[in-house]
Amino acid sequence: MQTGVPNGTTSGTNPAAVAPETSKAGQRIGVPREIFPGEKRVATVPEVVEKLIKLGFAVSVESGAGDAANCSDDSYRAAGAQIVDTAAALWATSDIVFKVCVPTPAEVDMMREGGILIGFIWPAQNPELMQQLTAKKATVLAIDALPRMLSRAQKMDALTSQAGVAGYRAVIEAANAFGRFFNGQITAAGKVQPAKVFIAGAGVAGLAAIGTAVGLGAIVRANDTRAEVADQVVSLGGEFVKVDYEEEGSGGGGYAKVMSEGFQQAQRDMYAKQAREVDIIITTALIPGKPAPKLITAEMVKTMKPGSVIVDMAAERGGNCELTVPGEAVVRHDVTIVGYTDLASRLAKQSSTLYGSNLWRLAEELCKAKDGIANVNMEDDAIRGLTVTKDGTITWPAPAPKLPAAATAPAKAAAAPAAKKGGHGHGGGGGEPMAGSKLAIVFGVAAALFWLVGNSAPPAFLSHFTVFVLACFVGYMVVWNVKPALHTPLMSVTNAISSIIAIGALVQVSPLAGAVGRPNDWISWVAAAGIVLTAINMFGGFAVTQRMLAMFRK
Ligand code: NAI
Repeated sequence: MQTGVPNGTTSGTNPAAVAPETSKAGQRIGVPREIFPGEKRVATVPEVVEKLIKLGFAVSVESGAGDAANCSDDSYRAAGAQIVDTAAALWATSDIVFKVCVPTPAEVDMMREGGILIGFIWPAQNPELMQQLTAKKATVLAIDALPRMLSRAQKMDALTSQAGVAGYRAVIEAANAFGRFFNGQITAAGKVQPAKVFIAGAGVAGLAAIGTAVGLGAIVRANDTRAEVADQVVSLGGEFVKVDYEEEGSGGGGYAKVMSEGFQQAQRDMYAKQAREVDIIITTALIPGKPAPKLITAEMVKTMKPGSVIVDMAAERGGNCELTVPGEAVVRHDVTIVGYTDLASRLAKQSSTLYGSNLWRLAEELCKAKDGIANVNMEDDAIRGLTVTKDGTITWPAPAPKLPAAATAPAKAAAAPAAKKGGHGHGGGGGEPMAGSKLAIVFGVAAALFWLVGNSAPPAFLSHFTVFVLACFVGYMVVWNVKPALHTPLMSVTNAISSIIAIGALVQVSPLAGAVGRPNDWISWVAAAGIVLTAINMFGGFAVTQRMLAMFRK
């Protein structure tokens, strides 16, 4: 049983290094116990430790770090981690530290010089911390700075994973404080009406809350200033309630914008009506970097039915309800107002597992060679976005990542001057835009080829060729205008549709039987090869579609 201080293997700057027990491993990842009061989460769980070790890393966990998330020292040990007795020993001997909460000055003091730190940092709100980290010559990857618009980055998106857990927990807190069933029931004693839930803000947390409340059997309504989320609300079984005022609510990048006074007045009227009708309100409305909008006034609370519940998820940023007390559950006008700011931590096992998986995915990106050495590649858009200090130099804020043209259009409206055009995201090709002269050459060559084909090819071929060229053009225009987030479903469906190619190939392949040796044999063989390739595409498409659908099934 190992409880001593492990040895860091690569930095060579560690004065506290002792017995080299894992010299075959690469860099050492350390996971300290979170010291923020009440925080129950931990930055990795035993299942993830095994995966980190497979990437070539050694892993140390501070004794008791996972206790509040139901991960015992023994379970970490069984997964291959070493248990370290004290925080000082853990920080001093780790090349890379995985954390959940923003580190305190005392924690940064314990960090080894030149080390890597990964966790929530919020650089805009913590300038002193940033200075302290640069003095340590640290390389810091702030998981909150992840460029969320990159579809490739979704697997590392801890803000999303944690908000999803928090949205679920918000409904559970509401159910706990609410004195009735969520679902409607017909009993021998009479009919029980289902609870009515109104969700303000249908972002990540809001959508998770809608799904959970619908699952419990409530009638769920939701509102958001971004009209594009209406379909998502409906697909989860909710009803989207519109504000009776026409105004575009999207501020680009999947976030909302501050609305006009006219809209806000119309929204207040609608919210006042909802407050009178519903039993539970869950508020999640927020625009990053802005104080939470006050959507539920004290007057509205007064009009709610006795025993109603409000869960204000935006409590930490001032709250969406005027009467919220951050961190507490209070009763005002016979309405329970829950302002907990640690909802994800209240489901510690789940949130730690998801957070640990996000960090493991990040470790995979940092260590593509699987040799246990993290390479902070500043040419990689996702890594560049996350990196807020590199070897002691502040590299935050990062320039906007390169996105396919369709995705950059709204972002440009939100003033992102450093954004470059061109494709980089999932499924997009591209790179730098083509220079004018190069474009002219490409068009010139294409025109010459068309002329050549038109002049020499037989008429029967020409009609097919025209259809082919038009199909390519239409296909290109359709796919190019699809949002990057929809590329995976799009590809899976188009792959399935490629079965049409199989029909064409089957028609051509039919003379194959008994026709071997004839001059047009090669057409049959090409068709046969076409069937094989299309079959892979076709069944692959169905398999991917099936996997995606399974993600939404219970
Ligand atoms: P998000 O950015 O995905 O969603 C916020 C939504 O609010 C967006 O859809 C936006 O369009 C909408 N919105 C903005 N202004 C609005 C307005 N005036 N009226 C209606 N809708 C409006 O954010 P996410 O990740 O879903 O988080 C939601 C909130 O939950 C945030 O305040 C976040 O800090 C908080 N949160 C709280 C936790 C807790 O323990 N209490 C844990 C995790 C998140």
